[in-house]
Amino acid sequence: MHSTALVGLQLFLLLLSLASPASSCTEQEEHSLLQFLTGLSQDAGLAVSWRNGTDCCKWEGITCNRDGDVTEVSLASRGLEGRISPHLAGLTGLLCVNLSHNSFSGGLPPELMYSRSIIVLDVSFSRLSGVLHEPPSSVTTTLPLQVLNISSNQFGAEFPSHTWKVMQNLVVLNASNNSFTGHILPSLCLSPSLAVLDLCYNQLSGGIPAALGDCSMLKVFKVGHNKLSGTLPVELFHATSLEHLSIPNNGLQGELDGANMVKLSNLVTLDLRENKFSGKIPGSIGQLKRLEELYLGNNNMSGEVPSTLSNCTRLMIIDLKINNFSGDLGRVNFSTLQNLTHLDVLRNNFSGIVPESIYSCSNLIALRVSLNHFHGEISPRIGNLHLSFLSLARNPFTNITKAFHVFNGFRNITTLIIAENFVNEMMPQDETLDGFRNLQYIHMADSALTGHLPVWLPKLRNLKVLKLSNNRLTGPMPSWINSLHSLFYLDVSNNSFAGQIPIALMEIPMLKDNTAAYLDPGHVELPLFWRNISRQYHFLTAFPTLLNLGINNFTGVIPSEIGQLKVLSELDFSSNKLYGLVPLSICNLTKLEVLDLSNNHLRGVIPAALESLHFLSALNISNNDLEGPVPTGGQLSTFPDSSFDGNPKLCGTMLIHQCSSVRAHPIYIISAKQPSVKVIFFIAFGLFFGVGVIYDQLVLYRYFGSAHFNCNLF
Ligand SMILES: *[C@@H]1O[C@H](CO)[C@@H](O)[C@H](O)[C@H]1NC(C)=O
Ligand SMILES: *[C@@H]1O[C@H](CO)[C@@H](O)[C@H](O)[C@H]1NC(C)=O
Ligand SMILES: *[C@@H]1O[C@H](CO)[C@@H](O)[C@H](O)[C@H]1NC(C)=O
Ligand SMILES: *[C@@H]1O[C@H](CO)[C@@H](O)[C@H](O)[C@H]1NC(C)=O
Ligand SMILES: *[C@@H]1O[C@H](CO)[C@@H](O)[C@H](O)[C@H]1NC(C)=O
Ligand SMILES: *[C@@H]1O[C@H](CO)[C@@H](O)[C@H](O)[C@H]1NC(C)=O
Ligand SMILES: *[C@@H]1O[C@H](CO)[C@@H](O)[C@H](O)[C@H]1NC(C)=O
Ligand SMILES: *[C@@H]1O[C@H](CO)[C@@H](O)[C@H](O)[C@H]1NC(C)=O
Ligand SMILES: *[C@@H]1O[C@H](CO)[C@@H](O)[C@H](O)[C@H]1NC(C)=O
Ligand SMILES: *[C@@H]1O[C@H](CO)[C@@H](O)[C@H](O)[C@H]1NC(C)=O
Ligand SMILES: *[C@@H]1O[C@H](CO)[C@@H](O)[C@H](O)[C@H]1NC(C)=O
Ligand SMILES: *[C@@H]1O[C@H](CO)[C@@H](O)[C@H](O)[C@H]1NC(C)=O
Repeated sequence: MHSTALVGLQLFLLLLSLASPASSCTEQEEHSLLQFLTGLSQDAGLAVSWRNGTDCCKWEGITCNRDGDVTEVSLASRGLEGRISPHLAGLTGLLCVNLSHNSFSGGLPPELMYSRSIIVLDVSFSRLSGVLHEPPSSVTTTLPLQVLNISSNQFGAEFPSHTWKVMQNLVVLNASNNSFTGHILPSLCLSPSLAVLDLCYNQLSGGIPAALGDCSMLKVFKVGHNKLSGTLPVELFHATSLEHLSIPNNGLQGELDGANMVKLSNLVTLDLRENKFSGKIPGSIGQLKRLEELYLGNNNMSGEVPSTLSNCTRLMIIDLKINNFSGDLGRVNFSTLQNLTHLDVLRNNFSGIVPESIYSCSNLIALRVSLNHFHGEISPRIGNLHLSFLSLARNPFTNITKAFHVFNGFRNITTLIIAENFVNEMMPQDETLDGFRNLQYIHMADSALTGHLPVWLPKLRNLKVLKLSNNRLTGPMPSWINSLHSLFYLDVSNNSFAGQIPIALMEIPMLKDNTAAYLDPGHVELPLFWRNISRQYHFLTAFPTLLNLGINNFTGVIPSEIGQLKVLSELDFSSNKLYGLVPLSICNLTKLEVLDLSNNHLRGVIPAALESLHFLSALNISNNDLEGPVPTGGQLSTFPDSSFDGNPKLCGTMLIHQCSSVRAHPIYIISAKQPSVKVIFFIAFGLFFGVGVIYDQLVLYRYFGSAHFNCNLF
């Protein structure tokens, strides 16, 4: 609670609950409650205790005062269904109503919202919908309501504009996570005691009203995830009580006004993420002495980070990611920020070395400096930190051997991202490297590293995701690979691995059955991006189960044991030297969404049973030596000709190469150059049967299209 008024209220309610009910409730109150019960279609056993003719003060969820007036209805999380009856408002002594976490239908009766007695009304998470009504004309004086929590329902349309005139005692309004539209009402500060206003996750548009500056008691203002535009009005800075100003994910623009910002000297959280702010961080930010969380990520801000930031000694989180900040981050003396836990400067234009002062932030657990121009070797001092998350990706750091000896001190590290560094260096093979055993995610791709799969890898028993693509690693796929009990994502594509595909690979436990994987969802301290900058992952289990051996020198046949990897969703063996048949057992991989076996020497027919792969949305078996008809059942009819190209002996109704005329047209025509009959078929099919097919095509495009678009994880 944020106000003394509320503390007082709670004390008052506590005293009430201690007072033993001396008298029983009136017949009229009993009647009102029974009417409420009648409105429910599912009372979840309430009727057992709510019986006509018994003292309703003793009914479940009901509290009375010593005069026998019902003061509280507490029926949160009761599994109630049906409508909230307006008769509840007939309880004239009612102070507190908590109906949160139920499954009602219909709306919130205006009689309840504009009750002349209720002080706390909580109907959050209750599946209510419809519009909120303007106050009835009978309500002329101000109402006692102090706390209104209508969050996480499906209320729509505009917030009733006259509400504020009659709710001048309101302290907390949480209307977040609904579908309110229209503008933020400028009249909201008619409630002089308003301390908490949460309007996040709605469809609000327009600007932030200047009148907000009149909210002299406002401490929490949250309007993230709406469609707001315009700039921060200067009047906003008159709301000097503000502690939490949170406006992420809107369309706000303009520069931060340093002269005015300092007026918000009580700020603890400033969250302006995912907007279109530009310009510099004003030097005056150092005067916000109480600042603990600063989120400026995903904007268009630039310039150097002011040295005065080190004056904000309470800072715990600094998020500057995905902006155009430049210069030397070392201007900031991080050693004064002893409470710093998260520092994220992903994708900016910082240069120089990573400031040494960072390594004295003893509470730092997540550090991301990826996609900048930092250079040099990894400082041994970083080993003093108890990092859980470290991302260095795409900076020209050098000396991987030294780096790994530093990382060896990381007992708590779960996420290590060093991709696109240490270019052309040799993968460290030192057997004494075993300090980072808690690693769950390691990304060492895109570095042209030489050498073999490191011998310390099997020690990482918690490893879930291993990314080694686009290096120059050689040697066979070692048989210890199946000792990685947690691994469900293995990408070694575009290396020079050779030899046969070992059976051990078909015995990776989490690719056979990953139900255990969800026991630990693999929380990452900073969101990861994957394939698309707008998709953020906070949990490793959000990644697909994947096995990618593409673009290597693997040879031999695809082991039929592949059918054991029952939970695999993406399989890529493309561009190797595999021969033999497509194993029938692949049809047992019923979770498969992406299958790429292209550019090998596979022969024989395409197993018709592939049509049982109902989730398959991308298929490429082009450039092999397959023959016979292309099966047409299931998803197979949805793939373009290019999925099958370069198999001269294939035929089918969809291919130019008709089965009936295999011998008549020995010259294979690359079909993509002509308007394909199949495309027309798709359009017709899509129009007739909805968007399912089109959607699949989009997924396909995304997958194969993404190969050229390097938006990997950093
Ligand atoms: C409760 O019982 C009284 C008689 O005892 C009856 O008049 C009244 O209609 C009943 N109320 C309800 C809601 O059933
Ligand atoms: C309503 O009850 C829920 C569940 O017990 C609780 O979390 C919530 O804080 C209560 N609301 C109020 C306003 O006390
Ligand atoms: C609704 O909001 C009030 C005031 O912030 C809060 O006390 C209550 O716990 C919230 N209800 C739920 C279910 O979280
Ligand atoms: C508002 O309610 C939502 C849940 O519906 C909750 O997540 C959020 O923290 C609440 N806001 C405030 C300021 O308490
Ligand atoms: C939004 O509300 C829905 C139910 O209506 C709930 O499942 C979801 O968790 C809520 N989201 C947030 C961010 O509170
Ligand atoms: C980003 O800011 C620069 C000036 O710093 C401006 O030229 C550019 O148009 C802005 N880009 C966007 C997308 O707003
Ligand atoms: C703020 O930081 C600047 C530069 O880092 C320093 O000169 C100044 O003394 C600091 N001011 C306060 C009040 O700490
Ligand atoms: C750091 O955090 C601790 C614990 O939350 C707190 O006691 C201390 O005052 C904080 N330090 C600063 C400089 O704010
Ligand atoms: C690992 O994390 C735990 C809890 O987060 C902490 O108590 C411990 O000191 C850390 N150990 C190291 C070596 O970082
Ligand atoms: C890498 O660092 C180690 C240890 O500091 C040093 O011995 C070695 O010479 C360095 N290698 C290169 C190529 O600079
Ligand atoms: C595969 O091996 C051959 C020699 O056996 C070599 O010329 C070729 O570069 C290798 N290809 C890859 C992708 O490593
Ligand atoms: C598919 O799996 C089932 C049961 O796990 C097995 O009996 C069957 O032989 C497999 N099919 C193929 C073609 O491997």
